[in-house]
Amino acid sequence: MRSFKDYLIFAGDESKATADELKTELGSELGEIKITQFPDTERLVKVSSNIKGRNVIYIKSTPHNKKLNQAEHTIELFSTIHAMVNNGVEKIILIIPYYAHARQDKKFKFGETNSAEMVAETLNCLGKGHIKELYTIDAHFNREPGKYKFFNTSIDTYNITAVKELAKYIKTNFKLKNPRIVIPDKGQQPTHEYIKQIFDTDFIFLSKQRFGPREVKITCDQDTLMLKDSDMLIFDDMISTGTTLEKSIEWLKSKNVNRIFIAATHLMYPIIKGTNDSEEIGAKLREAGATAIISADTTGIKENGHISIVPLIKKALLSQKDWA
Ligand code: R5P
Repeated sequence: MRSFKDYLIFAGDESKATADELKTELGSELGEIKITQFPDTERLVKVSSNIKGRNVIYIKSTPHNKKLNQAEHTIELFSTIHAMVNNGVEKIILIIPYYAHARQDKKFKFGETNSAEMVAETLNCLGKGHIKELYTIDAHFNREPGKYKFFNTSIDTYNITAVKELAKYIKTNFKLKNPRIVIPDKGQQPTHEYIKQIFDTDFIFLSKQRFGPREVKITCDQDTLMLKDSDMLIFDDMISTGTTLEKSIEWLKSKNVNRIFIAATHLMYPIIKGTNDSEEIGAKLREAGATAIISADTTGIKENGHISIVPLIKKALLSQKDWA
């Protein structure tokens, strides 16, 4: 079994609580990063601990939250890696619980970029061979748990899934009636096995067509299913505007189901300039008919997470084969 006792653990502000728990679990020590800001909003990263020749774990989640947007988090990630390499770090194990710029994970139309690939290539370039391992959690561009090819990079990259823990949480905390699993987007197949380990029941696959950020059409070709009076458990990787889930709930309600539970690894709190679109999303989904919304604390907001990602990260780091 690997040991991380001689590692220093660093974290972005949003992931401090996660790093603190992980440090205790691994018997490592915390390192210090200081961030200051110039009047024109340029942010300066300083790795205050001496990392020359040392191995480090760096946890940086990149969701948009009240303090920073995705781009600001990502620049902080890049700056910190740059500072670590410039200060003589030996080996970096990078953990990105929520990987920003991942929804544009393909070049869908002529002229577009692939943003997830752009982040990957930049990390690879800045890391100069020192980023030896990267861990993501239910990454949008790779739902398959375990080792995967991180675009065109040579970084050993692993995806951890939180869905099994989310399923366990629902099973333990609610008395369910004839539960059925709902997947709002057929593309999410790789994690089904993990849900099945907890709920050996029918899966309902919805088809999602997206016409815009808040325009989603849900259909299903399994219309013959009798869902009446069953508790429905919807699993998705993330909640952003909540539109996918709101429309899925509408479809389910038209089938006279019993209660509807939502499990999503990443719970975003979008703060979109010029709108009031923020914490209202949970309220909107409950109003639409969700009994409970269960999520992991990948964005670093511990109060939002019903399950902690720390045990999952610990298992993955130690065993390099346990991804759920
Ligand atoms: C899409 O590929 C994802 O799996 C989520 O369903 C989607 O990103 C959620 O976004 P929203 O909450 O805005 O519908």
